[in-house]
Amino acid sequence: MPSLELNGVRKSFGATPVLDDVSLALEAREFIAFLGPSGSGKSTLLRIIAGLETADAGEVWLEGKRIDTLPPGQRGVAMVFQHYALYPHMTVRENMAFGLRNARVPRDEINSLVEDAARVLEMGELLERKPDQLSGGQRQRVAIGRAIVKRPKMFLLDEPLSNLDAALRLRTRVELAQLRQRVDAAMIMVTHDQAEAMTLADRIVVFNDRRIQQVASPMEIYSRPANTFVARFVGSPAMTLAPVTQVDGGDGFATVRLGDGTILRTQVPRAGLADGDLQVGLRPEHVRVAHGGEPATTATVELVERLGERSIIYARLKDGLPVTGEDSGISSLKVGDEVGLMIDGAAAHLFGPDGTGFHRQAA
Ligand SMILES: Nc1ncnc2c1ncn2[C@@H]1O[C@H](COP(=O)(O)OP(=O)(O)OP(=O)(O)O)[C@@H](O)[C@H]1O
Ligand SMILES: [Mg+2]
Repeated sequence: MPSLELNGVRKSFGATPVLDDVSLALEAREFIAFLGPSGSGKSTLLRIIAGLETADAGEVWLEGKRIDTLPPGQRGVAMVFQHYALYPHMTVRENMAFGLRNARVPRDEINSLVEDAARVLEMGELLERKPDQLSGGQRQRVAIGRAIVKRPKMFLLDEPLSNLDAALRLRTRVELAQLRQRVDAAMIMVTHDQAEAMTLADRIVVFNDRRIQQVASPMEIYSRPANTFVARFVGSPAMTLAPVTQVDGGDGFATVRLGDGTILRTQVPRAGLADGDLQVGLRPEHVRVAHGGEPATTATVELVERLGERSIIYARLKDGLPVTGEDSGISSLKVGDEVGLMIDGAAAHLFGPDGTGFHRQAA
């Protein structure tokens, strides 16, 4: 039985449509990440699932029961917000117990639920502290603890790590990964951080333009993006997209020519490829600065970002096309240099006139 099911969910605020016919099914205990630009309706959809917002149309089902007609407290979902508001005058224990006390859960049961959650989150020794005696990451864990004690069928996490500093965020990410091994519930997490989505999620849902653009495993999203939006949105720095024309390569795979004349032999099957204008998609790691060998083409360097383990090169081909490529971490390139580029055509993606992606056959 699927855990959560959304069928044809629609939502407008006034005259502005925000979600249009959103359908999605989660497996039991699945961890889903919502990725998408600001304003694409991610929080709105979480709030609709939690019952804090009403959809204009569509249904929400959880473990075989329709829940969009139920009040929030009876839906079996617990939501953790980006701006977790802990009660400053209450201890951690009281903060976690608060919702249960309101729901008139017996005192003994509250105690054991809170102790269990504290054990899962490894914060047993923090229970008698007040929020101002905690670090940001610990406060975030209390907010998650408040959700855990409700023993929900599903967790909804709206950018739970976004106001933590980089190091803490990384640690809390690891904690979250461990937490999900220990709780028997599905999770949806909204995040702007692709690394978070890639490392935590079983599947990623990419939103844009009121609709789901793609639902797939992290590697599938990265290596077989459904369309140009997903291709550019996922992966940093973004994939280079360039118009190409098809030429006869003499085999079953598409061979294409860039605007500067460079020929790329792809591994994308020609059969099934869209008619009309095509674009090629190249990840930076597939466009490498040549050090000897026979480069595919040459370009002028416009910017070099040295990241330590590698350098990102922003350059321009002879016909003016901007490309993003890579060089070694110790790259000695500077702005204005002419460089040769090795392009891995076999790793190239193609996109049809409507943006649909075509990729090499899965290994
Ligand atoms: N209560 C509201 N009244 C009117 N418009 C709203 C309301 N809540 C959200 N919106 C609008 O709906 C759209 C989607 O908002 P939502 O908060 O779901 O986006 P989001 O994907 O979570 O964005 P972010 O990544 O910035 O959090 C936005 O254009 C927003 O301005
Ligand atoms: Mg949001």
